[in-house]
Amino acid sequence: MMTAPLPAGAPITATVGLGERSYDIVIGRGLLSSLGRRIAALKPGARVAIVTDENVAPHYLAHCETVLREAGIPSAPVLVPPGEGSKSVTSFERVCDALIAARIERGDLVVALGGGVVGDLAGFAAASVRRGLDFVQVPTSLLAQVDSSVGGKTGINSRHGKNLIGAFHQPRLVVADTALLDTLPARQFRAGYAEVAKHGLLGDAEYFAWLEANWRDVFSGAPARGSAIAPREYAIWRSIEIKAAIVARDERETGERALLNLGHTFGHAFEAAAGFSDRLLHGEAVAIGIACAFEFSARLGLLPPADAERAVRHLAAVGLPTHIRDMSGAQPGGDALMELIAQDKKVQRGKLTFILVRGIGAGFVARDIDAGEVRAFLGEKLAKA
Ligand code: GLY
Repeated sequence: MMTAPLPAGAPITATVGLGERSYDIVIGRGLLSSLGRRIAALKPGARVAIVTDENVAPHYLAHCETVLREAGIPSAPVLVPPGEGSKSVTSFERVCDALIAARIERGDLVVALGGGVVGDLAGFAAASVRRGLDFVQVPTSLLAQVDSSVGGKTGINSRHGKNLIGAFHQPRLVVADTALLDTLPARQFRAGYAEVAKHGLLGDAEYFAWLEANWRDVFSGAPARGSAIAPREYAIWRSIEIKAAIVARDERETGERALLNLGHTFGHAFEAAAGFSDRLLHGEAVAIGIACAFEFSARLGLLPPADAERAVRHLAAVGLPTHIRDMSGAQPGGDALMELIAQDKKVQRGKLTFILVRGIGAGFVARDIDAGEVRAFLGEKLAKA
């Protein structure tokens, strides 16, 4: 196993370098216990609102309140129903009202304790109430720890599509306690792993090779060997490092940040075809989307078919879906998928933008992709079902 440059057991830190808005992401087992101390140091005298959902609250809300109280920080809980339905204008209004009713002001702090939905919703409420409150992300899912809690994308869904209402609002701190993943259902962990693999596949071939060799230990939460960081913590840290570097260079996605959407244009179409339901979790849709991005790149002659096969083989090895036929229930047809892809926000003047690859770890933004080529690729893929 590759050795990371920190002693075993110590929290690992990554930094998003954005000048005076820079912030740390601390990663390690049991870090929730340090939340009060960290917030007291970050914002002395702040009061806190903890936004969380009804699935996470029974596991972690009381502990979170206790560690804040022990650090002398008063807190008020704000609960929302679990699931994507909470990324709605109605929930947003409720959270904003609750923050105002709890008298959370500019000197105070919002804590987002939950997965991607809670982080996106609480972050957007923090961006909006009193024209901007500070917030801290405490992600409780693998997907939120390696992706959605980092980078400042916050928002809710519109009836026209996902994440169409929102703001860039960077957190002041991200506390990724890997012990919180112990209560995550296996399917959710696996879906989050699609975003872990994505970071290697888009930008770091060596990291991807490490994942191929060590993914079982990442899944099992195997302890550290010798002076190395434990494999799960290492994978989370390395994914965040890759994302943080990209965000630092292109916070508002005018260019390079789009690389983080590898697998997402195809993936969103599959997710939409499944009605954004449990039939296909976001990470599962991204896994099929990444497989499509690699296979489509190979079809265009951009990378050797063996590289596409290698990427797909790894996703399949961890148990992720890699083919449209892996969706449960009725499968979408090629025309329906094209319509969903065309509705995606990455369409400009009739040409489609995709994140394609020239090799493992060599993603690039392809802005001039002909819709006909995509339709032909999907037709071939569906015919192989
Ligand atoms: N999840 C993609 C991004 O943060 O840009």
